[in-house]
Amino acid sequence: MECAVEAENLVKIYPGNVKAVDNVSFCIKRGEIYSLLGPNGAGKTTTVKMLSTLLKPTSGDARVLGHSIVKEPNKVRRIIGIVPQELTSDDEMTGWNNVYIQAKLYGYTRSEAEKRTREALEFMDLLDVANRKVSTYSGGMRRRLEIAMSLVHQPEILYMDEPTLGLDVQSRRHLWNLITQLKKEGITILLTTHYMEEAESLSDRVAIIDHGRIIAEGTPAELTSKLGGERIHLIMKSNNEAEQLANRLSGLGFNVKVFNETLVVTVSNAAKAIPELAPYLSNVVEVRITRPNLEEVFLELTGRRLRDEEPIDSFRYRVMTRRLRR
Ligand SMILES: Nc1ncnc2c1ncn2[C@@H]1O[C@H](COP(=O)(O)OP(=O)(O)OP(=O)(O)O)[C@@H](O)[C@H]1O
Ligand SMILES: [Mg+2]
Repeated sequence: MECAVEAENLVKIYPGNVKAVDNVSFCIKRGEIYSLLGPNGAGKTTTVKMLSTLLKPTSGDARVLGHSIVKEPNKVRRIIGIVPQELTSDDEMTGWNNVYIQAKLYGYTRSEAEKRTREALEFMDLLDVANRKVSTYSGGMRRRLEIAMSLVHQPEILYMDEPTLGLDVQSRRHLWNLITQLKKEGITILLTTHYMEEAESLSDRVAIIDHGRIIAEGTPAELTSKLGGERIHLIMKSNNEAEQLANRLSGLGFNVKVFNETLVVTVSNAAKAIPELAPYLSNVVEVRITRPNLEEVFLELTGRRLRDEEPIDSFRYRVMTRRLRR
């Protein structure tokens, strides 16, 4: 197996003894989209910064197309593109100039730099707004510009640190399509995200990272298939109530787990199980039904959620619970 990026026992300890990355190893195969999925503070940015040579590892090393990030940082910089988590474009300049300056920084002649600027902007669907000041761009356009800036030197490997952070669903989908196009061009992509839908829909393989460690790795299907079944989340007023109901339901033979005030019942078919559960739901505040997804994998492994998010169907199920209570 050929790794485009191979991290070997990477460790980063910040001053104050903060172990941000704790012995992380992985292999990103050529041409794949590999995602680091984890909550705030998991160590994603620190990992990307080490792989980009912007931050020296406390110990461990990584090879980028065979070059050590510790011993050959200059070679590594030439072959990677970086889209950092924080926006770097100058919003007083036009989109064109932001990208053009990057191209000049890489040492291209004027005509070459112009050609590459045009190509990068065209690829990211920004050519028609290229002469506008960045301050007039939408959030999605701004994020796309950051990617265009990272593409001018035609990197073989692209790191994107939370590229869709804070974008609405439509802009996020647009970016997902463009990221898929980049993969088709043969670029190897390392993506970090704490959006489970993003990791699930884009990645060939996902590493789930928490407290600086990789706690699971595989294709999205591999990771979720281990869970099986459908999940009925019963949200109670308190952990105490959740525990009480869990005891009753497990006494009836249900497979139940409690996470704070939420009770998760795993069943093979939620629609069939709900009528059986109905007599016990009088104190339930809300019911959610989910199929196994990466969020569930994270919950199963850590007992915590990746982030608090209103599921699309929550209104429907709230109405349903109200009906059940009558
Ligand atoms: N310069 C620093 N000095 C000290 N601690 C730091 C520094 N940068 C990050 N940390 C800590 O290291 C840990 C990992 O941070 P990091 O930014 O890598 O996480 P992340 O997964 O990218 O999080 P987010 O989703 O919020 O971007 C956190 O506990 C953070 O507080
Ligand atoms: Mg980060």
